[in-house]
Amino acid sequence: MQAVPVTDSIHWVGAIDWNLRDFHGFETPRGSTYNAYLVKGEDKVALVDTVKVPFVPELLERIRSVVELDAVDYIVVNHVEPDHNGGLRLVMQACPNARVVASAGGVRGVAEYHGPDLELAAVGPDDVLDLGGLTLRFMPMPMVHWPDSMFTYCPERSCLMPNDAFGQHIASASRFADEVGLDFAVEELITYYANILMPLGPQVSKAIEKVLESGWVFTTIAPSHGVIWRERDIPTLLETYGRCTSGDTYDKLVIAYGTMWGSTDVLARHIADGAIQAGVEVRLFDLASTPYAHVTRHVLDARALLLGSPTLHHGMLHRPAGYLQYLAGLKPKDKVAGAFGSYGWSSGATRQISSRFEEMGLEMPLGDLTCKYAPSAEELVAAREWGRTFGEIVVERGPM
Ligand code: FEO
Repeated sequence: MQAVPVTDSIHWVGAIDWNLRDFHGFETPRGSTYNAYLVKGEDKVALVDTVKVPFVPELLERIRSVVELDAVDYIVVNHVEPDHNGGLRLVMQACPNARVVASAGGVRGVAEYHGPDLELAAVGPDDVLDLGGLTLRFMPMPMVHWPDSMFTYCPERSCLMPNDAFGQHIASASRFADEVGLDFAVEELITYYANILMPLGPQVSKAIEKVLESGWVFTTIAPSHGVIWRERDIPTLLETYGRCTSGDTYDKLVIAYGTMWGSTDVLARHIADGAIQAGVEVRLFDLASTPYAHVTRHVLDARALLLGSPTLHHGMLHRPAGYLQYLAGLKPKDKVAGAFGSYGWSSGATRQISSRFEEMGLEMPLGDLTCKYAPSAEELVAAREWGRTFGEIVVERGPM
């Protein structure tokens, strides 16, 4: 397996996880990559990040297509999550001359993951790794994605290696955004942001400000997942991240639900019909057929969310219940919400949904919409009216 040149003296040497379909609960129908970069100076060679354990042989083979393994002088750990740091011990064994550096938090994290016997040095903004004609600089970026996260920068090549930031879960034979198509790459960028970084918007926004104010100039942004962004696409990339981190929403309503015998599904469709009449963009998802991650990508910029579930055993069906648990962790803010669903002889699902929405701090301007068994013609009219009223509230609220 061959390394791929990113820019002069910097090669992509990572791994492609074509078959990844679940990234700690985030469905990844397009797979992903674990990107690692080999920076080759006149005197020294640095490897920025490693890969998930099963992919270490792939990483090592790509490094060997550029230099011998004993020529690697440094390994930079930008982030200790196992998709980037899991293979560190194996890579250290294969590259016996490499000195390992990480942020102060990264040094602690590596010791906690791998045991205290691995030798590491902490680096920060005042440190420079001189590779001969090329240097590497560092900026700790706590909570982009974990407390240990760090950005690495090569000023001589204007190349930023920001680990999880600007990443996307795309497995592709192409390494660059302009090769897979900018619109596609941006959509996957938003999906990744929504499902990984949504609760960390303020920290991500601050990190980007910090980088821009630092005077670091970049013509390449090489994240640790998915495709690499070249100069002409960087304005679009930054503008998209600006929108994501701002939490800006528009007149858009997500309706997500589970259904047993179709009653909650029929309610959902009539609610959607009413909301569309109010002038709102509606996205409707049966959670049995749509991955949580795709729904969440739309929740990110929607102003409102309606969640539906029939009652089963006095509570929610498992898919809406699971989705609430998934979404609560991502801490969506500044949205209006509501609950709907059918029940048989005993209700309970919508009460549970509303109670969870309340815990999440979401405002619920309307009472729950329910029906017993199958909705009657009158109840369908009421569902359409409920959706229209909800839609009007969404439009009236404007940006929250
Ligand atoms: Fe790609 Fe936070 O790990």
